[in-house]
Amino acid sequence: MASRSTFWDRIALHYSKQPVADEPSYQKKLAVTREFLTPESSVLEFGCGTGSTAITHAPVVKEVLATDISAKMLEIAQGKAKAAGIENIRFKQCDLAELQSGEGSWDVVLGMSILHLVDDKDEAIRRVYNLLKPGGVFVSSTACIGDFSSWFKYIAPLFRWLPLLPNVAVFSEQELKQSLIAAGFKIEYDWRPGKDKAVFIVARKPE
Ligand SMILES: C[S@@+](CC[C@H](N)C(=O)[O-])C[C@H]1O[C@@H](n2cnc3c(N)ncnc32)[C@H](O)[C@@H]1O
Repeated sequence: MASRSTFWDRIALHYSKQPVADEPSYQKKLAVTREFLTPESSVLEFGCGTGSTAITHAPVVKEVLATDISAKMLEIAQGKAKAAGIENIRFKQCDLAELQSGEGSWDVVLGMSILHLVDDKDEAIRRVYNLLKPGGVFVSSTACIGDFSSWFKYIAPLFRWLPLLPNVAVFSEQELKQSLIAAGFKIEYDWRPGKDKAVFIVARKPE
């Protein structure tokens, strides 16, 4: 875990100071997510980064477990939650694959800007499926780099050979949806704000 988290530890402070790249789209994703949250919701976010999304939703749910592999990201997230007076978020440093407990216990799992960064998106999606309660939803926002018009999709696969960069997986929106459906999810909502933008999907585990 140490080597994969190094990149994120290094950029955490800079990341926390960056404005959201597309604020209107981010706000719409938050609003759509909100429709799936209730005061009884138990929410798991993996790859929570500096915690902005978890902190935004925490006041309207029962509890949030926010996880990330980067200690520095979590440190910043914890500081932000404390400053905001939020007390129902637990932070945990771990990979999604390490979350052994809690199978079938989450109402909502959030994976924002993360599925293209995990080693195996299909495995991650299956894991999320197992962690959700029947009827629970997986809310994700993913850079489907395989559909990008730029040259980035050709160099991204090389990142795995470069020690200082994270693994970036290249797949299309279609491939992502196929992975969700193959795991057993039903896609309830999907939205791509524009060309080369992340694909936002709400997928439900059937009852
Ligand atoms: C692009 S940032 C997104 C952060 C946050 N979700 C957001 O939308 O701002 C990716 C985050 O995922 C974390 N991460 C990368 N690989 C991970 C993994 N395998 N398991 C858990 N977190 C991971 C990184 O440390 C980083 O904080």
